[in-house]
Amino acid sequence: MEPEVQEEAREDHDDKQVVSEIMARCFIPTLVTSISWEAFHFVGHEIRIAEAMDCYGAVVWPSALVLCYFLETNAKQYNMVDKNVIEIGAGTGLVSIVASLLGARVTSTDLPELLGNLQYNISCNTKMKCKHLPQVKELSWGVALDKNFPRASNSFDYVLAADVVYAHPFLEDLLLTFDHLCKETTIVLWAMKFRLEKENKFVDRFKELFDLEEVSSFPSLNIKLYKAVKKNRRNA
Ligand SMILES: C[S@@+](CC[C@H](N)C(=O)[O-])C[C@H]1O[C@@H](n2cnc3c(N)ncnc32)[C@H](O)[C@@H]1O
Repeated sequence: MEPEVQEEAREDHDDKQVVSEIMARCFIPTLVTSISWEAFHFVGHEIRIAEAMDCYGAVVWPSALVLCYFLETNAKQYNMVDKNVIEIGAGTGLVSIVASLLGARVTSTDLPELLGNLQYNISCNTKMKCKHLPQVKELSWGVALDKNFPRASNSFDYVLAADVVYAHPFLEDLLLTFDHLCKETTIVLWAMKFRLEKENKFVDRFKELFDLEEVSSFPSLNIKLYKAVKKNRRNA
């Protein structure tokens, strides 16, 4: 076999193996109850997530699992203990919960209509289990950022985001939000699901403001995990 073909086969095998390990962290209960929930295993905990079917943020998306798995398996390099962490577009809250279980001081954010379910999941899964109780807060991308998250008092070590780029009209506001929340030392960890060309262009726009590094790629899920830090504008 040609070396390139061999390499491709190896990457394909690695991708499938890690993806099946990531997906195995989720199990759907066989018991039918009035609340629809799924369970996930991360950081030695069973995390129960209540879901709804009425909007994008109401279910756990595969990118969230990819990011949780990354946080758990890279906890030494990306140490969350006592770090200030904000998640944007948190949806059902799985990523925020895992970051909290890893010891971070988490602010979990989303649109106002998502906050009830988000707060419920976060409270159920972090009470008495985490060093710092996570906060749930509204953050509609691009809206009242200076008022609700004043630049001068933002001191986030990490900004986390899973599957926040898709066909919605707020992509520029999303970029503005990333920019607003980050200072020069903030690390963005972002799991991106690739779907359509228009959304892919977001990555190019993002690169104008941030130095972007692909940390891992899961071709069978069309998901990439990125790490980013703000470009040093003085030297740009
Ligand atoms: C595809 S879901 C991903 C949810 C979660 N991160 C996950 O991976 O399971 C996208 C999330 O972005 C949020 N979102 C969409 N538009 C938004 C906006 N303009 N401002 C804030 N959040 C928004 C949605 O409410 C939703 O929770």
